[in-house]
Amino acid sequence: MCGIVGYIGERQVQPILLNSLTKLEYRGYDSCGIAVAGDGIELYKDAVRVKTLSKASPQFNGTAGIGHTRWATHGKPSQLNAHPHLDCSGNIAVVHNGIISNFQLLRQQLTAEGHNFTSETDTEVIPHLIEKHYHNNLENAVEAALREVEGSYAIIALAAGEPKLVVAKKDGPLIIGIGDRENFIASDVPAILDYTNRVIYLEDGDIGVITKGKIRISRDGTEVSREEHKVLWSVEDAKKGGYEHFMLKEIHEQPKVIRDTLVGWVSAEEPAVDLAVMRGGIESMLIVACGTSYHAALIGKYIAEELLSIPTRVEPASEFNYYGQTLARTGAIVITQSGETADTLKAMRRLKDGGCPVLAITNVVGSSASRIANQTIYTRAGPEISVAATKSFMAQLIVLYWLVMSSSKADARRLADLIMGLRQLPGKAQQVLDNEDKIMEHAAYLSRYENVFFVGRGINFPVALEGALKLKEISYIHAEGYAAGELKHGPLALLGKKVPVIAIVARDNTYEAMLNNIREVKARESPVIAVAEEGDEAIEQLADSVITVPKVDAVFSPVVNTIALQLLAYYAAKQRACPIDFPRNLAKSVTVE
Ligand code: AGP
Repeated sequence: MCGIVGYIGERQVQPILLNSLTKLEYRGYDSCGIAVAGDGIELYKDAVRVKTLSKASPQFNGTAGIGHTRWATHGKPSQLNAHPHLDCSGNIAVVHNGIISNFQLLRQQLTAEGHNFTSETDTEVIPHLIEKHYHNNLENAVEAALREVEGSYAIIALAAGEPKLVVAKKDGPLIIGIGDRENFIASDVPAILDYTNRVIYLEDGDIGVITKGKIRISRDGTEVSREEHKVLWSVEDAKKGGYEHFMLKEIHEQPKVIRDTLVGWVSAEEPAVDLAVMRGGIESMLIVACGTSYHAALIGKYIAEELLSIPTRVEPASEFNYYGQTLARTGAIVITQSGETADTLKAMRRLKDGGCPVLAITNVVGSSASRIANQTIYTRAGPEISVAATKSFMAQLIVLYWLVMSSSKADARRLADLIMGLRQLPGKAQQVLDNEDKIMEHAAYLSRYENVFFVGRGINFPVALEGALKLKEISYIHAEGYAAGELKHGPLALLGKKVPVIAIVARDNTYEAMLNNIREVKARESPVIAVAEEGDEAIEQLADSVITVPKVDAVFSPVVNTIALQLLAYYAAKQRACPIDFPRNLAKSVTVE
């Protein structure tokens, strides 16, 4: 999705803007641009990658500027639709994330008043509105302009002859990075990590005026103070660290991520989580999320129902927003890596309006989800750059395990075993990674096919969904995740020699049924790759090939199985020479509905 950067200080701004934009590339974009303020505004933008923009752009002289990576919503990717956008005079420039929902009406009105538009975007109304209200004071003009717009926005505005950046936000992330006689603006922390780790998170309704030595934030005309935070992510965390892709690095970080997440929760200092949303006669749980986080939520349902004996409903946020009912005496959890997914944030607001206390599980400190929630638990995955979620999913699972286990009424012995199992997970995850070469061979085989089914049962049904999602999003192989028992209700018609089936087998009460499902598949001549525990001879004999994973309690089998499937997807995509970290049409953080 779109990314925003801004700088004001004593250094030449252009290299800083371009460097910061490269740090936002992971979000997904189709065009980019920069504007630098001097006596006038100098602008360069195009439907190209940041690297190409850097080479093609003229050298601009100036110490204040703004930049943008655009992910097209209104109007195709093109030079004219790229940001920044200018007013008619060319003296005001704006970058914007979000959607202005009343832009058509505003555009008609402004056109009638004599404004000329050059793009198809909703954003372009903003610089024209600012121009309309501009009387040598950018802040006042921005405030007046924003009173007329409806929708969501995070913006930075720049005017020739005014040494300041004016920022504003509503329903979109925007942070200020504090430097020494210089300040930075960004939609996302990695953009400023090379320069500072001191940040201020802006809140909805805030308008900020940023100069090189001062940050003034106000809302409704009254100055407000916003706390300064220290970002704990390091620059190294956001680099590839010798790996070919961020995704591979992030897959390999998982033993550490599990350890880091557990240190916070399974420790003597913090023996149990005070789950505020589960207090006060809560009788059921609702978990809402999207994509991979939704799959973590589905696994959460299985563990909550098994270990908490609490009825648990899971909804994709995009569906819940249109039909889901908020039930009385329901504790709500939302799971979102980025904390900025528009569908998830909308669901959170609905839940709160419906009187449901909401716990957010998110990876990004200060994200919108953390602001809306009644209570937030941060996963300790570190920055996840690859569009395909891997380590954040793992951290979500670990938090869910611990949340459920810390409130579980299961007998003491079972709980003690589970806690022991949880502590062993970093080592088990490492064992899966140590099997990488073997998994690579399976991936090379799989990469020749165009259609693949992933099947599992029980707690491994969501693992099948996640395995299929990983494969399809990065290798572009059509993959479907199915509950293994559902194959006979339709999908068997598609099976045959050209459609391999990945069967995820756990040693739980679904085991025998899974063996039967594999037999059904084999009878239709589909090649079967099983993901199964080491030493399982029955599977060795039945499946065409087996990806072995270490023995764990079946409750934890999603951890080892998912890592194996992540590697499978990664190496299949690599074999097909796909752009693994930035799959086509996708964005890391999906800030539109
Ligand atoms: C999965 O690999 C995806 N990148 C995607 O499904 C993602 O999980 C989804 O968009 C939700 O994102 P969130 O966790 O940041 O809310």
